Amino acid sequence: MSLQNEIIALRADALAALKDASPPDTLETWRIKYLGTKGLVKKFMERMGEVSKAEKPAVGKVLNDLKNELTTAFERIQVGASDALKPSGLAFDVTDPLPPERVHVLGKKHPLTRTVDELRGLLRALGFEVTEGPEVEDARHNFDDLNIPPDHPSRDSFDTFFLSKDALLRSQTSTVQVRIMETRKPPVRVIAPGRVYRPDLIDATHHSTFHQIEGLYVDRGVSMADLKGTLQLFVEGLFGTGTRMRFRPSFFPFTEPSAEMDCSCPGCGGPGCTVCKQTGWVELGGCGMVDPAVFEAINRSRGDKAYDPEIWTGFAFGFGIERLAMRRHGITDIRRFLENDLRFLRNV
Ligand code: DAH
Repeated sequence: MSLQNEIIALRADALAALKDASPPDTLETWRIKYLGTKGLVKKFMERMGEVSKAEKPAVGKVLNDLKNELTTAFERIQVGASDALKPSGLAFDVTDPLPPERVHVLGKKHPLTRTVDELRGLLRALGFEVTEGPEVEDARHNFDDLNIPPDHPSRDSFDTFFLSKDALLRSQTSTVQVRIMETRKPPVRVIAPGRVYRPDLIDATHHSTFHQIEGLYVDRGVSMADLKGTLQLFVEGLFGTGTRMRFRPSFFPFTEPSAEMDCSCPGCGGPGCTVCKQTGWVELGGCGMVDPAVFEAINRSRGDKAYDPEIWTGFAFGFGIERLAMRRHGITDIRRFLENDLRFLRNV
């Protein structure tokens, strides 16, 4: 066999042996055998004397190429083998950053959805059933049956989005009180979270599109004490044990008596801070005892006496959800909720 053929055979042997030589000790044995100072490649180089002068350059090149090829092949396998030795026993380093195309961004719920989920959970634990109503309403559900008189300013187009003479975008979730009572007999204990619309000037605390959560509880003997007890548990569930609540006298056409409900500031707990504008209290929404005039209006629409105000009493409440979410997450601008800015959404 000529030296050239022997070199070709050596190449085949060496590459085949390298394939089987993965653990580091066998790999080192392979290196010494083929590439070591007394290795086979070196031995072949020493035999260049056997080659005729004319063939020397070609054979020399073949040998040199072989040496380079085997060195590169060895180095490749060596890198792979050291990867295999990493502590986890995996062929990759789990602490390496992923290439961008393999990074999966996990989504999460919108902060308003999370707040609604939380409110639903709290109020369901207090026995309220979750319901909902349509966003496109008529004047009867948004005003008439809620005892809102025909000349009331909230019926003005400055305060309500009208779609036609009698179709409008609901300006409050109190519409759902009417929808529930006209379809169900008492007792009822429901909440209705949802979107509402008002042609307000948009600024850091007002938006034309926002959310409310409505509550309605009608039964025999429901009193203002039940309302207060329920809302006390509600604020403690939301902002933590020890949070206090208070009523301030107010007026709504559909409740009598009516109140605004405040809770002790979740930011400072009382002494005063920027969240509560140094008052120690933050406003959460309106509430009160269902006005008997609402029951009468419902009875007229139903055509029966199911909600006899001599038998049934009830309380209702309505809170702005953005306001609650802002207090909870320290958000200072209501517009953030609707901008779909991922930098904001990822961080809340
Ligand atoms: N609907 C009222 C508003 O949007 C809030 C409200 C006040 C709801 C008193 C109620 C209530 O259920 O009893 O301003």
